[in-house]
Amino acid sequence: MKKNVKSVGIIGLGSYVPEKIVTNHDLEKIVDTTDEWIVSRTGIKERRIAEEQVATSDLAIKAAERAMLDAGISPEEIDLIIVATATPDMMFPSVACLVQDKIGAVNAAAFDLSAGCSGFVYALVVGSQFVGNGLYKKVLVIGAETLSKILDWTDRNTCVLFGDGAGAAVLSEVEEGYGILGMELGADGSGGDYLKLPAGGSRLSASAQTVKERLHYIQMSGNEVFKFAIKIMGEAALKALENAGLDCTDIDCLIPHQANMRIIQSAAKRLKVPMEKVIVSVDKYGNTSAASIPMALTEAVQMGRINKGDTIVMVGFGAGLTWASCVLKWSREENKG
Ligand code: ACO
Repeated sequence: MKKNVKSVGIIGLGSYVPEKIVTNHDLEKIVDTTDEWIVSRTGIKERRIAEEQVATSDLAIKAAERAMLDAGISPEEIDLIIVATATPDMMFPSVACLVQDKIGAVNAAAFDLSAGCSGFVYALVVGSQFVGNGLYKKVLVIGAETLSKILDWTDRNTCVLFGDGAGAAVLSEVEEGYGILGMELGADGSGGDYLKLPAGGSRLSASAQTVKERLHYIQMSGNEVFKFAIKIMGEAALKALENAGLDCTDIDCLIPHQANMRIIQSAAKRLKVPMEKVIVSVDKYGNTSAASIPMALTEAVQMGRINKGDTIVMVGFGAGLTWASCVLKWSREENKG
């Protein structure tokens, strides 16, 4: 694969979650479930839920502001904003345009990217191309979701799994030999039916009937998605490592999509990575889709679990079906104090 001319890495990170915590015990009062079932099947203990008036762009803006502060850049320096989301404020304008306006990134192009839970890593790879080929200097990549807004709160199969949040990263040229070393993106559209939101688009436009049939909520075949995830997480990460000229013994930190503890453990096992090197936050936030990987990465850096020279592997899977993995050599000296 032809490599980019410049080395591209992350120079700033930020995340944001709504304040409101909803525990498994809270959910026991809404649907026929138990804390024991949710924890044993998924590892999730609680999740954050946005207030009624809060939309995805509100979370994205807060994460973006923190990432810009962390990177020490001003909004005018940003050349491009990509927001990965499955829960935009509305069909259009894009969340990226709403963010561009609110943060004052007056020089930035802006678009949304739809790749389900793989969206952030997809966006990272897409955004890095512009920096790598020298066209842009600073790209802001955001994963942001308010999945609570598209959950059927009467469906115990789905409503216990997801949460709201946002994570953002500023991409820029970094020291040679650091930054993104390898990647793997993929899709299998034949599995699209396993995870979908059927109505509200051009196939089934919104009507009283679609609302009555609850077609504006997530529908998921949990078992099918589970089987796919178990297979693809390890495979995608191995391909990205191969693309970087590395193997699993080189991994210092694994950041898997935070969907389910059992899926995370199986990916770690396949990659022969001990759990001490795996970032886990699914217990606190549930599955925040495209926001899960940047949120986990931000937390890992803040907790001092990543330092300059570490090889990080991010890997996700999601609606589409899609998968994405990226190998990154951390380029920033972190202050562990
Ligand atoms: N509480 C209690 N029981 C429940 C609940 C619940 N919240 N949800 C389902 N059950 C029941 C089911 O009805 C079923 O009952 P039955 O046997 O009487 O029919 C039983 O529990 C077992 O269901 P399974 O589906 O076999 O449970 P499993 O162990 O597979 O776990 C789960 C289900 C957690 C959904 C799992 O399949 C999973 O994690 N799948 C992947 C989902 C995922 O990651 N989705 C996100 C994709 S990323 C994106 O782009 C959004």
